[in-house]
Amino acid sequence: MITDLTLAYQGGQPALDKFHITVPEHSIYTVIGPSGCGKSSLLRAIAGLIKDYQGDIQFNGKSVHEKATLIGLVPQNYGLLPWRTIQANIRVALRIAHPDKADRERQEQQIRHWLEAMGIAELADRYPLSLSGGQQQRVAIARAFALLPTIMLLDEPFSALDALTREKIQQLFLENWLTHPTTTLFVTHDVEEAILLGQKIMVMSSGKGETLEVIDNPLFYQKYEDKRESDEFFQQTKRIRKVMQEKW
Ligand SMILES: Nc1ncnc2c1ncn2[C@@H]1O[C@H](COP(=O)(O)OP(=O)(O)OP(=O)(O)O)[C@@H](O)[C@H]1O
Ligand SMILES: [Mg+2]
Repeated sequence: MITDLTLAYQGGQPALDKFHITVPEHSIYTVIGPSGCGKSSLLRAIAGLIKDYQGDIQFNGKSVHEKATLIGLVPQNYGLLPWRTIQANIRVALRIAHPDKADRERQEQQIRHWLEAMGIAELADRYPLSLSGGQQQRVAIARAFALLPTIMLLDEPFSALDALTREKIQQLFLENWLTHPTTTLFVTHDVEEAILLGQKIMVMSSGKGETLEVIDNPLFYQKYEDKRESDEFFQQTKRIRKVMQEKW
């Protein structure tokens, strides 16, 4: 639950102004809004990367920044350490989040599993800067999945993927989410992706992101392969575009 979140960068206008949203535990909301409206700032504040804000960000009645709440973030710029290999990048994150040595064997399995699932197992020993944008993006997704966080924040995580890879990873993402329904905020610029992956769709408006509309998305519960084809999908796309036109 987020109440009255106001966030301004040094010397600038507020990026968010008295922003409110409640995301129920174990649900997934997609977030769509014009460039510069404050989507990344919102995720960064929840993740604790921006500490200088007014208002409250709570999870289960406590500040979200208490240690017990593990937050997995896939940042818009991937957030990989350039001086570590791909597998070391994931390993470092897992060891910080789960320092117990008894977990290590399972962690190694998770690293292998997710690198394979993302189709980048053969890149495990390469360094981030020698990878394409889409490959780096998949490393960041693998890292977030392997982490098994309490809250998952994804900032346009599939934006650099080609259409086919994107569909494959969207499906994989949904399957994984249904097995581990982590409380999730998923930022996207793509209306179709917002409908495919969100139980609800938050539309933020330009200008400080202070107003928004939360749209129900019954389509979420249909099978992935059936969704795109259905008439409701088309209707929902139209509905969201209309809200966007009114707000942007
Ligand atoms: N580090 C920063 N310093 C100063 N201003 C910033 C900084 N980061 C973002 N802003 C400003 O805050 C506002 C919101 O930016 P933010 O990155 O949250 O937008 P966004 O909705 O994620 O946009 P996009 O869709 O382009 O990623 C913008 O006006 C931006 O210029
Ligand atoms: Mg952004």
